[in-house]
Formats: sequence, C-alpha cells, structure tokens
Amino acid sequence: MNFGGIRLVLCISLLVLVSSVPLRSAEDAHLSIDASKAEVKIDRNLFGQFAENLGHGLYDGIWVGKDSPIPNTRGIRNDEVTALRELKVPNVRWPGGCFADQYHWRKSIGAAEQRPATLNSAWGGVVDTNSFGTDEFMDFIQQIGSRAYVSVNVGSGSPQEAAEWLEYMTAAAPTALEKERAANGHPDPYKVGFMGIGNESWSCGGDMTADYYVSQLKLYNRFIENDNPAQRGPNQMLKIAVSPGFPETEWTEAVMKAWQHHDWSWNFDGLSVHWYTTPGGWPLSMPSTDFSVDDYAKTLKNTLFMDEFLRKQEIAMDKYDPQKKVALVVDEWGGSYKALPGTNKDFLLQQNSLRDAILASLNLNIFARHGDRVRMANIAQMINVIQAMILTDKEKMVLTPTYYVFKMYVPFQDATFVPVAFDAGTYLQGSISLPRIDAIAARNASGKLWLEITNLGPEKPIDIDADVTGLAIKSAMGQTLTASQVDTINTFAAPNSVVPKPVSANVHGGRLTMTVQPKSVTVISLEP
Ligand code: AHR
Repeated sequence: MNFGGIRLVLCISLLVLVSSVPLRSAEDAHLSIDASKAEVKIDRNLFGQFAENLGHGLYDGIWVGKDSPIPNTRGIRNDEVTALRELKVPNVRWPGGCFADQYHWRKSIGAAEQRPATLNSAWGGVVDTNSFGTDEFMDFIQQIGSRAYVSVNVGSGSPQEAAEWLEYMTAAAPTALEKERAANGHPDPYKVGFMGIGNESWSCGGDMTADYYVSQLKLYNRFIENDNPAQRGPNQMLKIAVSPGFPETEWTEAVMKAWQHHDWSWNFDGLSVHWYTTPGGWPLSMPSTDFSVDDYAKTLKNTLFMDEFLRKQEIAMDKYDPQKKVALVVDEWGGSYKALPGTNKDFLLQQNSLRDAILASLNLNIFARHGDRVRMANIAQMINVIQAMILTDKEKMVLTPTYYVFKMYVPFQDATFVPVAFDAGTYLQGSISLPRIDAIAARNASGKLWLEITNLGPEKPIDIDADVTGLAIKSAMGQTLTASQVDTINTFAAPNSVVPKPVSANVHGGRLTMTVQPKSVTVISLEP
C-alpha cells in the first residue's frame, strides 16, 4: 500500500470513530430527592446585599439626587428600586466594609446644603458630599422593601457615637435625638434589623488583636440599645461580631470563647466572616471579561473553597456553641477581579459574566447546605462594585447575570432544605478537576418542591433523571440561565445576552426528566 492509501484508510477510520462518539453528546446524571426529609430552613437572609460607600455603589449607583433628570423618588433611582424589589432583598448591609470604620453618621444627616464635604479615604480619596446618609439609606430600604443591616464604627468611632446613632434611628421616646430625626422628616422610629460591630477589625478596621477586639465588642454591646418598641421580643435587632476573612480560626476561637462566658451585660447573635473568590490571589489579576475556559475553571475551583472555609469556622464555633445559637454570617462574598481598564482601581468596578452566575449558584448552594450554622450572607456588592446585581452609567442601567441568579433563587428564601443525592461526576479542564453538576432542593410554605441544578461543564448538556419520593409530583416548569460563552456579559447596548429562558421538563410516574444545558443554572418547580 502506498502512503496515499494509508492516509485514506486512516481518514475512513477516523470518520467512523468521530461519528460513533459524537462530540458534545449529552451525559446522564441521576438525582434522588426525598421530599419527606425536609431539613433546616434556607434562611432568606442568605440572599442579603451589601451597599458600601465605595466607588459608584451609592453615588450615581443608588443615589442620583432629587434634582437629577434620571427618574427618582427623593433622590433614589426608580429603575433600580423596581429591579431590586423583584429580588425580595432580605437585608442590605451599609455603610461598609472598610468605609464603616471611618464613617461619622452626624456628617450625613439634616439639610443637604449644611452637610460637610469629607474625604472618602477608605476608597479612592474622593470628596464625599455626604448627601446619602442615614435617612436616605432608610428611605432606600423602605422603597425596596428590605431590612437595614447597619455597621457601626469601631475603628475610629466610640461606643457613645454608635449609641447615639442607634438612638437617632430607633428612639420612640421624645429625646433630643428623636426630635432631631422627626425634624429631619422622620417622626416614626426606624427598624434596624441587624447591627454589625466593626468590620475586618483584624485589618482595615483597626488592625486589632482578637483580645483587643473582644474588649471593644463588650463595650459596644453593653452601651448600644435599639429603642424601637416594635423591636422588642421576636423582632429584636441581631448583633453581629467580627470574625476572620481567612481560613485560620484563632480569631474565631477567641471571640467564641469570650461569648461562651458572656454575662447578662453583653451578647451577640452572629459572627461575620468574609470570603471572596480571588483566582490568582492578590493583587487581583483575573479579568472580568474576555477570559479563557481555563480561567473559568480556575475561578470555579477557587470559589468551591468556600465549603472548606465554612467547615473550618464551624468546627471552631461548635467547640463553644454546640447548639449553634450564634449564626455564621458570610457578609462579604463574591468573585473579585481586576478593575475594568481605564477605571479608578479603588472603585472596584468589574463586569459580570455567565461565569459569575455559576459562581453565585455554587456559593448559594454551599450556604444552603451549611444552613444550620450559616444563616445570613451578603454578596459584595449590590451596585457597580465587585460582583454586582446592577451596573449603571448615568441614565443607563443593566441587570447582570448574577442579578438573574438571585431572582431565580427567590423561591428558596425561607424554604426548607431537602437533601438531593447525586453523583456529581467530574468536569476536567486541563489539570483542574471540578464537579460536573451541583444541585439543591427545597420545599416552600405552599408545599411546592424547588430544584436547582448547575451544570459547570462548558461543553456538554446533561440528561437529568430524578426520582422524587415523599411527594407525588405531577408537573414541572422552570427556567435556565445560560449563554453562548462562559464570558458572555450583559451590556448597556445588549442587555439580554444572559437572561433566564423557560426550560422544558417532563414528569412521569414520579420521575423528572430533562436536559440541562452546558454552563447553566436551572431552577425547576415541581408541582404536586
Ligand atoms: O467589599 C470591599 C471591601 O472588601 C470591604 O470594604 C472590606 O470589608 C473588604 O476587605
């Protein structure tokens, strides 16, 4: 046989091989869901947001001012309020972050023209007009139908300053501060759902030792009151203490050990930890646009460390609080990447792609699985900062893929976690090994079963076959979020590149069958 003949035979056998193993063929995955085994609640506060005075998070983000041509209600953008109401945002953390430990609340109340201009030395050294303060934040909270999570200044403030702030916000009795709030247009006391005592006190919050922080924590606890009569009893304000933003647990142990021996004079309800997805570490080098599939896999690998991070903190907390009275509060999380070229790097402005939608679903699923201890979380941050829900540019606004994940997960808020058994399989990207799928399920108050499935693999659809016991399901419907590439984004010019679309699913004899698209987030409701 000459070389041409050999080439022909090789070509024919390759064709046979290729046609018998079609690329991108669907794979199978089997899920078992026992709806009678409802476990802990997926606390709605896991879907909390974070709005720091940073970059364009507040100014030009939420706040455009009353005289702006951008449609607003008392200075707050109407388009954003409409979009955020859809998310049923359970709480918003404000004013920081690192900014909270340099914030002096008195500078941003009262007549706008009398508020002093100050420097935002935490983020970019820009001039802060202080036009957005306590009353504007509370107005925003009421407009979007959420609850306030206020972080008080432990770094450069004092227990007295914080106590007076709480009195200004919550007093119902006719004190000078209550009268001042009324004179500023708000006779009724505000509700403050959560109070954070410091932020990253081991770093930007004052570089404290754990023991020093504990002594501050006791003072702030002892002398700050929520005076709103409507917040006595079950609606009382929950206090959240600082814990680490690193996996080591010495700080957690020191704070929890103090808590174990606390007396009547102080207490706290939650421990704040921060854990970001930072592929490649610091300084941030991962781009938020135009990245490779290898970068995608590297980012997801990095985000899955959240599970181990939480486990380490939980083991430390269990030693001092086996009854899990103190909640673990992940009040900063998200994919943190290099700032967009040409922007102030201190403003932490980045784009948000399909990768971030998948990153969000993986984190939310981890939180749900840790729901007996993790009862609150706040993605960083709500608008124009890090992994945002919304990006704005003057009058323009775009909803990000992460926004749509939060919208699809609304039915999981306060639903009861139902275990799902499945073999996650493996998605191999170069040397990076990841689970091929992830899934959670939950039942809500009306008895519906909700199932979320994430397909991490960027190439292959997965044929799902799920048997459901403990609930006679009759029909299924749902939505999938995907796009052509892992780095597809929504832009002001093309806002609908990554939006949820209806997906078909079949139910027959108590089994659900459906195909989930590659690189997708899918939420299905299973109706009895
Ligand atoms: O979210 C941005 C910053 O990250 C916060 O201000 C700080 O708490 C954290 O280090």
